Amino acid sequence: MTDEQKLNPAGPCILVIFGASGDLTKRLLIPSLYHLKRAGLLPEAFAIAGVARTNETSEAFREALHASLQQIAEEPLDGSAWDWLASRIRYLPGDLDNPQTYERLSALLKEIDGTSGTAGNYLFYFAIPAAAFENVAKRLGAAGLVNETPGHWRRIVIEKPFGTDLPSARELNRVLWQHFQEDQIFRIDHYLGKETVQNIMVLRFANGLLEPIWNRNHIDHVQITVAESIGVEKRGSFYDATGALRDMVPNHLFQLLTLVAMEPPACFEANATRNEKGKVLESIRSMTPESVKSDVVRAQYSTGNVNGQAFRAYWQEPHVSPVTSTETYVALRLMIENWRWAGVPFYLRTGKALAVKKSEVIVRFKHAPFTLFQDTPVEQLTPNDLALMIQPDEGANLRFNAKVPGPVMRIGAVEMKFNYGQYFKTQASTGYETLLYDCMIADASLFQRADNIESAWRIIQPVLDDWSTPGRDKLPVYAAGSEGPAEADKLLQRDGRTWRRLAPKHEPETS
Ligand code: BG6
Repeated sequence: MTDEQKLNPAGPCILVIFGASGDLTKRLLIPSLYHLKRAGLLPEAFAIAGVARTNETSEAFREALHASLQQIAEEPLDGSAWDWLASRIRYLPGDLDNPQTYERLSALLKEIDGTSGTAGNYLFYFAIPAAAFENVAKRLGAAGLVNETPGHWRRIVIEKPFGTDLPSARELNRVLWQHFQEDQIFRIDHYLGKETVQNIMVLRFANGLLEPIWNRNHIDHVQITVAESIGVEKRGSFYDATGALRDMVPNHLFQLLTLVAMEPPACFEANATRNEKGKVLESIRSMTPESVKSDVVRAQYSTGNVNGQAFRAYWQEPHVSPVTSTETYVALRLMIENWRWAGVPFYLRTGKALAVKKSEVIVRFKHAPFTLFQDTPVEQLTPNDLALMIQPDEGANLRFNAKVPGPVMRIGAVEMKFNYGQYFKTQASTGYETLLYDCMIADASLFQRADNIESAWRIIQPVLDDWSTPGRDKLPVYAAGSEGPAEADKLLQRDGRTWRRLAPKHEPETS
């Protein structure tokens, strides 16, 4: 989204939230809409229609949203912004399996169009379990609610999981396409709502400095880490059926990977960017049963201690099978077979119950070809790293070598640090503001296209196949609160490399 577009409020529309009584509405959607209103980006002719099974009135629905917004807000609420929003919220109780719900919804939308000037433009947000996506899409189609006519748009927003493997992802796309054109479908990956993730493109393509060295001639390898310190919390049954690979890799980690690895798009337009991301995914070397065994590590957390808090083992968590073989950690070594990246490994890791919460991309540069300094062989010098910090620290750090002050020639690693918070006064945001606004203005740059989703599943399908073969080895474990399993360290050691520590010690590295 460009600044120019951002200055204008979106056009008239109604946001219909299916599953409106759930957590997503309270935690993310309503706070984002409130922030959008305060930023002047919602149109006067705007309304929200919440649909869910709970039998309650619009009044009670608004009050519950108000209470949770107050709880979440870091500052006292802006009363007039809330009143503006509240006056536009309606609630419709209804069973999403019942065709009559859609008839009543259709009547309600027409009524709102008549009184509020929302012009028959509807954004249907599926805040419902993925298992219900296909059914709700079919019923919306059957009710004639999705047909666009000149000047009236209809769009849907869905959020991962987009299938659980390649065949189910294809099937979901097939069903969606029966009722919607691809440009009516907005698939959210919430990582693309993060400023720091969007910044990867800016850093790469708004600075001439990096492009000449952003390739196999200068980069040794890339590490992509999304470490979480939380366990599976209350999501045991979902997580046990899903695992770290499906939950995080084809979506969030691949978004980071494609942003780091893609070629500059022809223009800053949705399909141009998505084409380039697609090419990266298509260039990833296909895995075989042998390479799955050598290049993919999975593990489960055992008992331990995270930030001073005792953790039970994964298999002891509520709603998790005591004999589970679901991974809570996965690390992979991927090769991108194109001219820019041939021979440069991309190491990805993600896991729960790790030492710290930290998402970052480390771009490790090759060593200086030889060193002038006696007694400091090249291989002992600390390599140059560019760290793109996604969360909780937000910014970018460049590590390089400098002379340690003193009469003796000693070399130490130092860092140049850019921190978002220090440079920019940031406003309260959930990360969904941009995403919601972009759906309203039909800018699909930050949304996933069907072919990109299928390419991502295609890459990991051999891993899913291999892991589901009976008789595979027992999963390695790592202590909760640690940096992950020893097997993940070996994955890099084998290539003469090491992971950047999650919780580094603070003494300067010298050689
Ligand atoms: C979700 C996963 O998509 O992303 C969760 O289902 C995970 O398991 C979450 O905790 C991580 O998101 P974030 O924004 O906290 O890094």
